[in-house]
Amino acid sequence: FLHYGDLTDTDSLVKIINKIKPNEIYNLGAQSHVGVSFDNPVYTAEVTGLGSLRILEAIKFLKLRKIKFYQATSSELFGEKTVTKFNENSELNPKSPYGVAKLFAHHITKIYRESYGIFACSGILFNHESPRRGETFVTRKITMFLANRILGSKNILKLGNIYAKRDWGHAKDYVEMQWKILQQKKPDDYVIATGQTHSVKEFINTACKMLNIKIKWVGKGINEKAYEIKKNKKEMMIKIDKKYFRPLDINYLRGNPKKAFKKLKFKPKYNFYKLIKTMIDHDLDEAKKEKILIENQ
Ligand code: GDD
Repeated sequence: FLHYGDLTDTDSLVKIINKIKPNEIYNLGAQSHVGVSFDNPVYTAEVTGLGSLRILEAIKFLKLRKIKFYQATSSELFGEKTVTKFNENSELNPKSPYGVAKLFAHHITKIYRESYGIFACSGILFNHESPRRGETFVTRKITMFLANRILGSKNILKLGNIYAKRDWGHAKDYVEMQWKILQQKKPDDYVIATGQTHSVKEFINTACKMLNIKIKWVGKGINEKAYEIKKNKKEMMIKIDKKYFRPLDINYLRGNPKKAFKKLKFKPKYNFYKLIKTMIDHDLDEAKKEKILIENQ
């Protein structure tokens, strides 16, 4: 049942929690776009950071200490490449207003666990993608673009930092772990990741290969472009646009999910290739449906 509430409105949270008296709360609410957080930092801090505190305060105030609380945090907590694989004890150096807001949520969750005995856990999730991913996040932007291209679109894809490396997993695998985190005997924090890392450019190249699109990169930096090679002709397909660069970006993320492997029996069903394949298959279907709709108008 959908109840109306708002992470910026303490009163609404207290009322809903008091009415429902849930066994478990999963706080997945956020302004979750890292790039957007540079344009809307105060709103991001309000929702992504303080929103979590408001829920924890409601649990404490209502003395509903039996509620288990899951806080979705993020690999954006890390930033500096201090290690090759980040785990639960790695140094935290966020590089965006979003990352700082998640850092607050992460620490406040731990503080409420240790101070008030609330079963509160933080899941430090690395990038998790799926066909349901929002269209302004890079993986979906790419798979939707390529699916439309296969069906004849001549649009050009504009991207920012294609050398950023991320540890990409599938949201389905990760959501199961969110639930598992709350089924443990003791509350704790966990890194959820695949342990592998690939750049945005590798994501594009892999997706093109799956679709039999022959791609050729030329140029460097802001002038780098990708062409599609078709019957010895080249057609521009991707270019770099400074609009999509962030004032500050994390260039390298790779998680170490050892603790989750051991304690949560985490065994991801999707690897990088299967993830891309699932997204492409879905977006091809969607693009076909859309094309039929337009043709029938
Ligand atoms: N969105 C976007 N759009 N990103 C681009 C683009 C573009 O056109 N071009 C390059 N990138 C680069 C970004 O600069 C970043 O380095 C990388 O691609 C991934 O960007 P996003 O897909 O926006 O995801 P994110 O890594 O910033 O954040 C996601 O993952 C986090 C977990 O690690 C979000 O889901 C966060 O909410 C989440 O916490």
